[in-house]
Amino acid sequence: MLDLAQIRTMDKTQDENRQGEAYLHGDTGMQTHARKFYIESYGCQMNFSDSEIVASILQESGFSSTPSYSEADLVLINTCSIREKAEQTVRNRLHIFRQQKKAKPGMLIGILGCMAERLKEKLIEEEKLVDLVIGPDAYRTLPGLIEEAQSGQKAVNTLLSREETYADISPVRLGGNGVTAFVSIMRGCNNMCSFCVVPFTRGRERSRDANSILKECRDLFENGYREVTLLGQNVDSYNWADENNNELLSFSGLLEKCAQTDPSLRIRFSTSHPKDITDDVLRVMRKYDNICKNIHLPVQSGSTRILQLMNRTYTREWYIAKINRIRELIPECGISSDIISGFCTETDEDHAETLSLMEYAGYDMSYMFFYSERPGTLAARRFRDDVKEDVKKRRLEEIVHLQNKLSKISNRQDIGKQFSVLIEGDSKKSQAYWMGRNSQNKVVVFPKEGQSLKPGEYAIVRIENCTGATLIGTLSIQDLKGN
Ligand code: SAH
Ligand code: SF4
Ligand code: F3S
Repeated sequence: MLDLAQIRTMDKTQDENRQGEAYLHGDTGMQTHARKFYIESYGCQMNFSDSEIVASILQESGFSSTPSYSEADLVLINTCSIREKAEQTVRNRLHIFRQQKKAKPGMLIGILGCMAERLKEKLIEEEKLVDLVIGPDAYRTLPGLIEEAQSGQKAVNTLLSREETYADISPVRLGGNGVTAFVSIMRGCNNMCSFCVVPFTRGRERSRDANSILKECRDLFENGYREVTLLGQNVDSYNWADENNNELLSFSGLLEKCAQTDPSLRIRFSTSHPKDITDDVLRVMRKYDNICKNIHLPVQSGSTRILQLMNRTYTREWYIAKINRIRELIPECGISSDIISGFCTETDEDHAETLSLMEYAGYDMSYMFFYSERPGTLAARRFRDDVKEDVKKRRLEEIVHLQNKLSKISNRQDIGKQFSVLIEGDSKKSQAYWMGRNSQNKVVVFPKEGQSLKPGEYAIVRIENCTGATLIGTLSIQDLKGN
């Protein structure tokens, strides 16, 4: 059996993200009968972050949000195309929304995100699933498209842009815990990993204006947030220049400036491509206590031959050298990964190399998938998807099993250590416990025991016990300095 908890939540809906707060931006500022929108998000954090931009655009044009789709005049679904299953989940949801529309004919259904970009008009013309189709670079045109759809026209905009970063739009934080937030620093991807649909659905890579990123970090801090995750498909290739080319900023430069917002604002980032993460980034991480000591460094496969077919542009040895360098410069750094089983032509020997590389890296955590061929990708055009499904699944089970073992080993090594933990809220299992994370991004729970701590505060916690996924501790002291 697969341990589903270990498999990426990318294909699942995150309930907390469904709940928008109701605001109305009208002339009077009074709560009247504003049109209501409901938004549901799937896929990676970039999508969740985009939904917050969409919410901001809709509020500006007089919509208020509702956590219940049956109350909505506009139902939006922000979608993912990364694997076939992700798209199937969305189709199932759309059929449910269409049922609702029968009871409420004026309701509009719109599809956003990667599936909208991939399938375009087809979703309206052939499949008749939705009223609006909006790709990831076209969200500013949403208010106009809603009007078009209301007047019965075909409302589609899937143009990709080389400039759009939504830099000036302040996201409306949907749901969330008020402590941790995502800040998008770039869009698109210029890599061409042969299995991946993202370059086709998200377009060319572009970096967001550093000043607007820094302002967003500062605003979040002033609003009580204590952790920011800088988001991009490949953050290490962040590269921004101001209009006069006076200021040039690479990712290490941006990271340093973000860290300087305040020592008690933690900074994380995701995702790093092994070929692009530099010593400069590692040195900045080492220099600032508030930059979290955790790197998500997806390997995908441990076999050089498969890595070449995947067009990842590094070898097994090169990846190992990168792990060694991280451990040398930041010994306490947590490392996590993404792994794909059963890519085209993968043999049992290739698979064994993936397992041995996982052991070598000693990942704290991994997101694990079996290969799902995506139409239009390099792999779909060049290679046969020739590993049988039961073999892909068996290999995935072995990968998941090994990762569970590695996570337990890593967690056991933390017993007896003390960590600074940023409190995010109550533990899911018991209100008598706080839940937070340490710098390495491990979940830590500890009893409240009458302490006057609050979410957003730091505590020094001594680890007494663990499971595969959680460290269990007791409070040593409140960490007033933070981070
Ligand atoms: N930009 C990020 C990842 C984006 S997609 C990066 O480069 O790391 C997240 C993960 O989904 C990938 O790392 C990969 O492991 C997985 N993935 C992407 N395409 C896939 C496919 N066709 N089948 C199975 N898994 C896939
Ligand atoms: Fe996809 Fe590769 Fe770009 Fe990640 S780096 S989004 S896996 S093409
Ligand atoms: Fe999915 Fe698009 Fe993200 S395909 S993983 S939502 S960039």
